[in-house]
Amino acid sequence: MPAPQPAPPAAVSAAPLAESPAGAAPAATAATDLSPADYLKLILTARVYDVAVESALEPARQLSRRLHNKVLLKREDQQPVFSFKLRGAYNKLAHLAPEQLQRGVICASAGNHAQGVALGAHRLGARAVIVMPVTTPQLKIEAVRALGGEVLLHGDSYTDAHAHALALQAEHGYTFVHPFDDPYVIAGQGTVAMELLRQLQSLGNQRLDAVFVAVGGGGLISGVANYLKALRPEIKVIGVQMNDSNAMLRSVAAGQQVTLAEVGLFSDGTAVKRVGDETLRISRALVDGFIEVDTDAVCAAIKDVFVDTRSIVEPAGALAVAAIKQYVATHKTRGETYAAILCGANMNFDRLRFVAERAEVGEQREGLFAVTLPEERGSFKRFLEAIGNLPGGPRNVTEFSYRISDERVAHVFLGLSTHGRGESSKIAANFARHGFATLDLTHDDLAQEHIRHMVGGHSPLAHDERLLRFVFPERPGALLKFLNLMRPGWNISLFHYRNQGADYGRILVGLQVPEAEEAEFQTFLTTLGYPCVDETANPVYRLFLRR
Ligand SMILES: Cc1ncc(COP(=O)(O)O)c(C=O)c1O
Repeated sequence: MPAPQPAPPAAVSAAPLAESPAGAAPAATAATDLSPADYLKLILTARVYDVAVESALEPARQLSRRLHNKVLLKREDQQPVFSFKLRGAYNKLAHLAPEQLQRGVICASAGNHAQGVALGAHRLGARAVIVMPVTTPQLKIEAVRALGGEVLLHGDSYTDAHAHALALQAEHGYTFVHPFDDPYVIAGQGTVAMELLRQLQSLGNQRLDAVFVAVGGGGLISGVANYLKALRPEIKVIGVQMNDSNAMLRSVAAGQQVTLAEVGLFSDGTAVKRVGDETLRISRALVDGFIEVDTDAVCAAIKDVFVDTRSIVEPAGALAVAAIKQYVATHKTRGETYAAILCGANMNFDRLRFVAERAEVGEQREGLFAVTLPEERGSFKRFLEAIGNLPGGPRNVTEFSYRISDERVAHVFLGLSTHGRGESSKIAANFARHGFATLDLTHDDLAQEHIRHMVGGHSPLAHDERLLRFVFPERPGALLKFLNLMRPGWNISLFHYRNQGADYGRILVGLQVPEAEEAEFQTFLTTLGYPCVDETANPVYRLFLRR
């Protein structure tokens, strides 16, 4: 089938928009009047398979069981550059005239687009100049270089890199490859939907109620929506955005471009301040709805994907799964079939710790509390009993931090495993009924990100303090058992524990032991029977904790 003649691609690609959060305010671009039928032809004739693979469409069995709906995962995380972006970039490059390829191409990107352009240009024998901010992590610079891209580091932000790329384009006659606002880029991304419908047939089930698509600048959803609406208009196309990076949702609602002043960076793949004119036109016409998700929900979705596939996707790659969960919870659906596009897996390893920690909160499997106990005999024991008797059965203490600071009351930072949504407020109310004033910190960012790490410090009340570090095999209920054993005659002036998911738990305890009772103290440690290190002479203790 001959390729149709869309509005000259140069008209939309000549004035590129920003791809990244720090994106430059773009020059105006023109939307085309290409119809879904025009795009269908562009998609069917797109050239992507020189570099891309037909990614698998797999059922997410565990998630489907949990949600009582069938969830299918389109595995774009398995592309050679770990995202769908090479489809659009390559299709654009493959449609350039030989002279354009000879002069070379340029883009500004610190993300997945850079890798797609570098790989595509290399395959076509073209020079690819990728301008990246000087702040780009070395890992990403090396990934682009390894694919044959010429990396130019310029400026502190994407805005600077983008401006420099435009200057170089004008100076050297390079062709600018836009990350999303270009019909060829959109058509390349649309091949995801083409595969999806074909693969649906081979799974033996034609039913598909909705496709969930992460949206940054809108290239992917524009391609997907054009293809699906041309062939199966009854399938809903739902765009997914982060709640702090929702330029498309807002622009569609406003019926015009809305430029965000700031965007959250957690889902860096979709962090875009201003969407494309063409992608906005298409989204307004063809997208059935949008869902906003937050960081905790995305972390939980990364975990869901891991549980079903044993693969880690990047935050943008998990947006669609987070949205499916939200959609099912809101609409109380059963027996429907949904597809989530797992659009990328370029995850920095050092982010995993944050993701794992927030996944529990996102799944509502951990509650965090500030509990106030009276500093009086027996109150600690009563509190442990209150934890042990919570309705719903036994639960794990995931965190317990305390530092003596007041003669009358003790403030404990407490983490507990919960059984589901909304339970943390019930637990807080239960503690309050038992006489322990409690703040539910489960959704408090200050507590999550900072205060939990800051419980402690020098205390004038911590006289005669001995600091002990215990290591013990981590298993369910282990901390409660430890706390129960830990009831010596001496006052506990400090306690720090956090479940790190490791095989051994680590606990730091401060006990106020008068010098005269040293022999008794040694006997206590022996009876306790937990391996322990006395850290009282450690200089770090003296600097940060000792009174
Ligand atoms: C992994 C990932 N997901 C989603 C997107 C958003 O795609 P679009 O800008 O086409 O909406 C990107 C864009 O770079 C991405 O890298």
